[in-house]
Amino acid sequence: MSDLLRALAGEKTERTPVWFMRQAGRSLPEYRELRVGTRMLDACLTPDLAAEITLQPVRRHKVDAAVFFSDIVIPLRLAGVEVEIEPGRGPVFANPVRTAEDVARVTAIDPADLDGAAITEAVRITTAELGDTPLIGFAGAPFTLAAYLVEGGPSKEHMRARGMMHADPESWNLLAGWLSRVSRRFLEIQRDAGASVVQLFDSWAGSLSPDDYRAFVAPHSRAALDGIGLPSIHFGVGTGPFLADMRLDGVADAVGVDWRMPLDEAIRIVGNDVAVQGNIDPALLQAPWPVLEAHVRDVIERGRGAKGHILNLGHGVPPETDPDQLTRIVELAHGA
Ligand code: CP3
Repeated sequence: MSDLLRALAGEKTERTPVWFMRQAGRSLPEYRELRVGTRMLDACLTPDLAAEITLQPVRRHKVDAAVFFSDIVIPLRLAGVEVEIEPGRGPVFANPVRTAEDVARVTAIDPADLDGAAITEAVRITTAELGDTPLIGFAGAPFTLAAYLVEGGPSKEHMRARGMMHADPESWNLLAGWLSRVSRRFLEIQRDAGASVVQLFDSWAGSLSPDDYRAFVAPHSRAALDGIGLPSIHFGVGTGPFLADMRLDGVADAVGVDWRMPLDEAIRIVGNDVAVQGNIDPALLQAPWPVLEAHVRDVIERGRGAKGHILNLGHGVPPETDPDQLTRIVELAHGA
């Protein structure tokens, strides 16, 4: 079994398994070259291109896992929702979903009808090339998707999505329940085509109060992962105030931790009967190697008390990162 799967199963591994969120992307010159002239979401839906981009960081850095090159808004596009990714900005929706009528209109789409053919083909090409290296499939958590869909685009505090929870809880639960099924379908397509781990990204959950997280968000995230039949990682940013809830009542096999909390403290909060993933500070990728090296060693040390530790950043690779820094982290984790 690969070290990543062993860590997720709670086994101690000789080498700390490592991969990076956004390892496929603008930090790699070979990615920037391939992407010239193709829009982000079109690249995701071109199977040989998506497969090649997924494989690039595995070849270069020798990471312990590939993460499927796609985006959290892809299943919405496949369901027929009009969305684009604006470079330097993020997902933008032609028709924001703000009123009860908007919610009724979008949730009338049956997630089972989503056309997954391009995803299936891309995952098949990728896993055939990967051999024993696991492929991590992923989806956006309902709240993070809603943060874009309700607003119509990126926002700082996700005021409209958080407002809907209290102004019209019925519509909120209808929308979040539907997003949960859309993301679940996306995970199932990746699973059925050969992915061996899944990660749910709730990148913007840190804008929620613990009470709102528990009442309006956790049940929908749990439904997206429950019974998926693969080891799962649940990741959020700024979720320190409700980190134990990120376990989703034992449904998640690993909890992602951002850079704000020392990993040993996070382990004390979530318990040592679940694996953790993290939590190198992405800002330190800019530091000279000896400074970054000391930080990575400290993270590995603090992770020793966990049931299993997967080394990663506290959030995605910033586009301006020198990719050699990532390669050095992998060599260090593998004890080279
Ligand atoms: O991690 C990986 O290497 C796998 C691929 C991946 C992408 N997006 C590719 C991508 C994954 C796992 C995602 C998830 C995603 N997408 C999240 C959750 C993870 C996170 O970073 O918090 C979110 C919030 C999105 C929405 C999104 N898509 C944003 C905010 C952006 C950045 C916009 C920009 O240009 O700065 C995207 C576009 C995107 N998704 C890029 C990549 C490589 C950059 C597009 C490009 O290269 O032109």
